[in-house]
Amino acid sequence: MTTLKAVRGTRDLLPPETALWDRIEATARKVFTCYNFGEIRTPIFEDTGLFARGVGEETDIVSKEMYTWEDRARAQSEKSQSLTLRPENTAGVVRAYIEHKLGESGQLQKLYYIGPQFRRERPQKGRYRQFWQIGAEVIGPPSAGSESALRDAEVLEMLATLLDELGIAGWTLELNSVGSAADRTRYNDVLRAALAEVAPRMCADCQRRAVTNPLRVLDCKVPEDQPIIATLPVIADSLDDASRAHFAQVTAALDAAGVPYNLNHRLVRGLDYYTRTTFEFTHGGLGAQNALLGGGRYDGLSESLGGPKAPGIGFAMGLDRLVLTLQAQEHVQKAASPQGTQVDAYIAPLGENMNAPALALARELRRAGMRVELGDGSFRLKKSFEASERCARRIVILGEDELASGVLTVKDFATGGQSKVPRAELAKLLAEAAGS
Ligand code: HAM
Repeated sequence: MTTLKAVRGTRDLLPPETALWDRIEATARKVFTCYNFGEIRTPIFEDTGLFARGVGEETDIVSKEMYTWEDRARAQSEKSQSLTLRPENTAGVVRAYIEHKLGESGQLQKLYYIGPQFRRERPQKGRYRQFWQIGAEVIGPPSAGSESALRDAEVLEMLATLLDELGIAGWTLELNSVGSAADRTRYNDVLRAALAEVAPRMCADCQRRAVTNPLRVLDCKVPEDQPIIATLPVIADSLDDASRAHFAQVTAALDAAGVPYNLNHRLVRGLDYYTRTTFEFTHGGLGAQNALLGGGRYDGLSESLGGPKAPGIGFAMGLDRLVLTLQAQEHVQKAASPQGTQVDAYIAPLGENMNAPALALARELRRAGMRVELGDGSFRLKKSFEASERCARRIVILGEDELASGVLTVKDFATGGQSKVPRAELAKLLAEAAGS
């Protein structure tokens, strides 16, 4: 029989690596709390129309990467419905914002999420078909200040702080403004006109995009097309005064906060909802998939989903890529060294009739916050020592005598010292040693 394996582009995350995932998530939650964000959890699948309307029919994500199926009705009262595993979370958050009338509070909504997303992309290093994002959105009625350039700068400053807190060294912030919807229409016309002449010399995808969605041409990675793309008009020249002023305020606030950035006129991003400020944080160590995170403003998304006017800005970080980057950095390897994975104590019951008292002792120590591994009384003492030395800082031996006297034998593997410890003092001793 053939053995079953995880599906192409998906993978299992196993300990001890998952400890790093947990640490990243905990750091993100801590930083988000400091900036007064609350957590939102939206469903993993949604109506297909949400992504078609939100992300855009012409994007790669919607046109070729979604996991979509026709969900059959189970009762006469139901209709069958086209559903899709979420390829990203912004559309779902904005749907929830509209559905729960969050705008009616008059306040800015600051929401973060951590969870899996699904895209049928060609798997490679840093690119998976199920991947994880840590993201956040700031959205609200214009009267709450949701359009303010300060929101953009605050989100970017928070990201710089979060990457620094995570210990990610050497990130670059690539920044651009793709203007308002009207600016984009103007730029699309300028670009389409410029492309009419050069597109026949470009790749097949660009030839198609030149007609359907000229902005996407700027995303092209085909080396032969790059000199042509370099000659195309830039979006900065199509921005109106209001968009130009908005972007100038964003960069001025970043300058004041001391957050470094690169202006990148070609950064247009792969989703259609963006307006004005768009950005990516990249990292050289990631190879071809070098975007640690991406985001931007989406001032018309709520309306395009049938909601009220609710400008917003947000981002999503690729958790898989944060892990890859940190793993490549030396100090994290140290944190994952045997010292970090060892438990405080290994309890070795001497004989099977000691198994039950050993479980009781383990429960006592674990309730006191100790990390404890429980051996088995069917092991000989030698095997218990071998097993414990691999995973624990010390072994606690529990035999008939120890149980009767309430004094346990403890061997510390780091010092080699062996001592007799009254049961009542064991948790305290382990806690002191763990803190030292
Ligand atoms: P995105 O640029 O499509 O934006 O994805 C954000 C990040 O998710 C990327 O920079 C990358 O780190 C990670 N990512 C994307 N696809 C994959 C993949 N196949 N494998 C591994 N990691 C991946 C969005 O999703 C927007 N919703 C971000 C946003 C939020 N914009 C405004 N608010």
